[in-house]
Amino acid sequence: MDQEDTGVVGQTPTDVTSPLSPEEERRLELMSAIPIMDETTPLAAELALDARRRIELAGRRFPPPWQTRVFTVANQKGGVGKTTTTVNLAAALAKAGLRVLVIDNDPQGNASTALGIEHHSGVPSTYDILINDVPISEVIQESEAIPGLYCVPATIDLSGAEIELVSVVARENRLRNALAAYLKERSRKGQPRIDYVFVDCPPSLGLLTVNAFVTAREVLIPIQCEYYALEGLSQLLNNINLIRAHLNPALHVSTILLTMFDGRTNLAHQVAEEVREHFPDQTLHTSIPRSVRISEAPSYGQTVLTYDAGSSGALAYLEAAREIAKRGALPPEPTLGKSGSEGATEEPSVDQGDGEASTEAPEVEGANR
Ligand SMILES: Nc1ncnc2c1ncn2[C@@H]1O[C@H](COP(=O)(O)OP(=O)(O)OP(=O)(O)O)[C@@H](O)[C@H]1O
Ligand SMILES: [Mg+2]
Repeated sequence: MDQEDTGVVGQTPTDVTSPLSPEEERRLELMSAIPIMDETTPLAAELALDARRRIELAGRRFPPPWQTRVFTVANQKGGVGKTTTTVNLAAALAKAGLRVLVIDNDPQGNASTALGIEHHSGVPSTYDILINDVPISEVIQESEAIPGLYCVPATIDLSGAEIELVSVVARENRLRNALAAYLKERSRKGQPRIDYVFVDCPPSLGLLTVNAFVTAREVLIPIQCEYYALEGLSQLLNNINLIRAHLNPALHVSTILLTMFDGRTNLAHQVAEEVREHFPDQTLHTSIPRSVRISEAPSYGQTVLTYDAGSSGALAYLEAAREIAKRGALPPEPTLGKSGSEGATEEPSVDQGDGEASTEAPEVEGANR
């Protein structure tokens, strides 16, 4: 069922009038076989909707980004879904045929746990990259469950790094330099390109998070659909602006994902509405529902994509990943005319990797909640 996702079901972007491929016709046929349920049977309607989403997403291959995209997943608020979002988006993109690296930059090591990656004390980890100049190639591990998904684990050692970094030379650039060297090394050795890098951050704005902000071009902010959701956001945005002004001019908030959305509560709808009003371009259409399967998966060392691939939580993360992939499939407008055919064969670089028109950084300053 593998099929490149072109953005227009069954058609290439340049050929929108051609008939549907047999594969897409089959999907449509299967979807139309599912009865339409009305509001009087909400549970059946939900099941029918999930069945349609499963058919729509099954076996799809997402388009690769035109260059490696590097995301920092950040929110200094604790427990909003940073790690859950990091590992599940990464798993969804890898399952859709892309090569993805997760850098666990949080001493809690939750991303490493959720990906089933060994990270007990003594295992080479993010700490060694930041403090001991160990290259990423000596630290990286591949997920057993999902080929093409890699992780740089975090061990408990990382909890000391925040203080140790203070006296280290070029302390804000440690992770960035390590990633740039790794991506270049892969390219030099003729190894396939890493398409996506996600850096999972701790719930603080210390030196570990600063390193992540300097490494990435894009920031992904998960926002929990709860009261106080936007509290502290202006502080996060101020910090991003400071980093942009002094350390990383390309940094911008490209993506906001609403997490733990409970459609039965007015509060969740209110928060979602407010976030979309402030960040209309950055907020993904897909929101992640509150789901027991999502919260259970890490205790089995799994992402929800392998723990229960057909669950509504897995489908939501697949849909969110698909949105992100579609946004990053083409180069930003200004370079499109200059080199229309270079696309995904471009050499990887930490300085590249944003699929949006990133020359115009979003005006996040105005959203001062
Ligand atoms: N959509 C969801 N439905 C149900 N539970 C969820 C969902 N997303 C996250 N959780 C649960 O909420 C808790 C916090 O999530 P997570 O660890 O991803 O947040 P975090 O922002 O990374 O936290 P921290 O700030 O401590 O790093 C976890 O127990 C996780 O399993
Ligand atoms: Mg976390």
